Amino acid sequence: MTVSKLSAIANLILQSHTADEEAHAVKLLSDFYLTFLAKRTPHPSDQIELPLQGGIALSFDHAADCLQDRLRTARFIKGVYQAIQELMLRFPDQKINVLYAGCGPFATILLPVLPLFKADQLQVTLIDIHFESVKFVKELFLTLNLSSFAESIAVQDAISYRHSSPDLHMVITETMFHALLTEPQVAITTNLAPQLAEGGIFIPEEVSVEVQLTSFAREPFLTTASVPLVSADYKRSAFAMLFSLNKDLGQSSFFINQAFHSPWFKIPALKKSEPDICIFTRVKIFKTLELGLAESLITNPYCLVSMLNLHPGAFIRFIYNFSDIPSWSYQLK
Ligand SMILES: C[S@@+](CC[C@H](N)C(=O)[O-])C[C@H]1O[C@@H](n2cnc3c(N)ncnc32)[C@H](O)[C@@H]1O
Repeated sequence: MTVSKLSAIANLILQSHTADEEAHAVKLLSDFYLTFLAKRTPHPSDQIELPLQGGIALSFDHAADCLQDRLRTARFIKGVYQAIQELMLRFPDQKINVLYAGCGPFATILLPVLPLFKADQLQVTLIDIHFESVKFVKELFLTLNLSSFAESIAVQDAISYRHSSPDLHMVITETMFHALLTEPQVAITTNLAPQLAEGGIFIPEEVSVEVQLTSFAREPFLTTASVPLVSADYKRSAFAMLFSLNKDLGQSSFFINQAFHSPWFKIPALKKSEPDICIFTRVKIFKTLELGLAESLITNPYCLVSMLNLHPGAFIRFIYNFSDIPSWSYQLK
């Protein structure tokens, strides 16, 4: 009964077309999970974030809250479902091996679609750094009779984790914040992408970061995750494409000493309507499934510096460093 309710919600998410439909279906998923969460006794560690060399691992509570970032949740679930189907075509005679790194307490973007498959089609490995999240997700698998899908559910650090079987067809990780700040998406991608089998799929497929000149105060910015925002699109000026994180970049030696340094760019004359240098994140989850500007907390704009502090004609370069907690900075010459 319970798992059939989950299947019905998953189907509603997969069939949703508009942002309102997506948000409504994810609200049902949230209510579903909250019935299990309500029976749990809170643990003293539930609000503890874990700083790692590569980014902060969100606490149990904070990871559970990510579900409420509704367009994010809906589109990742759709992307994961479509990607599994694609892998079944690419690897017709094999059981598809999925690694979900940073599954949180709900395995939010994978667990809902599992009842739509058979356990002989798919096996999943779930890891998270927080013991309480792993414990809770294990209980969910048991309660929902989904344990036959689970190869392993364990406490592991995805930044250094080595997958034991050679045929890893899919990696899922959503361990990011806007502009790839704070959380360890890049460190995890650079560790896990090289472990994918040839023809495997990394979810999200691509995260692009780009600098534009704009007025940050006028940019859409999602603050309450449960209220999806339709982003206003007005004129801003492209300034610099920084990089697109995907499985190939994750496998290359693109990042040197856990850092990216852009080329030098000439600072243009100040336009009153565009006083800020901001970083924009675009997330391509799978094929056409994307999260655009401020549709999610992870695609909000990030203001790096005001043009008022810079000299037109001087040169600027942008630096992303994830050797510790990921951050952006700039240098001038
Ligand atoms: C943004 S939350 C996402 C939770 C859930 N996957 C979702 O999409 O709603 C990120 C999760 O990744 C976990 N995490 C972050 N860094 C990790 C690491 N290095 N190793 C394992 N888990 C990590 C956090 O503990 C947290 O549960």
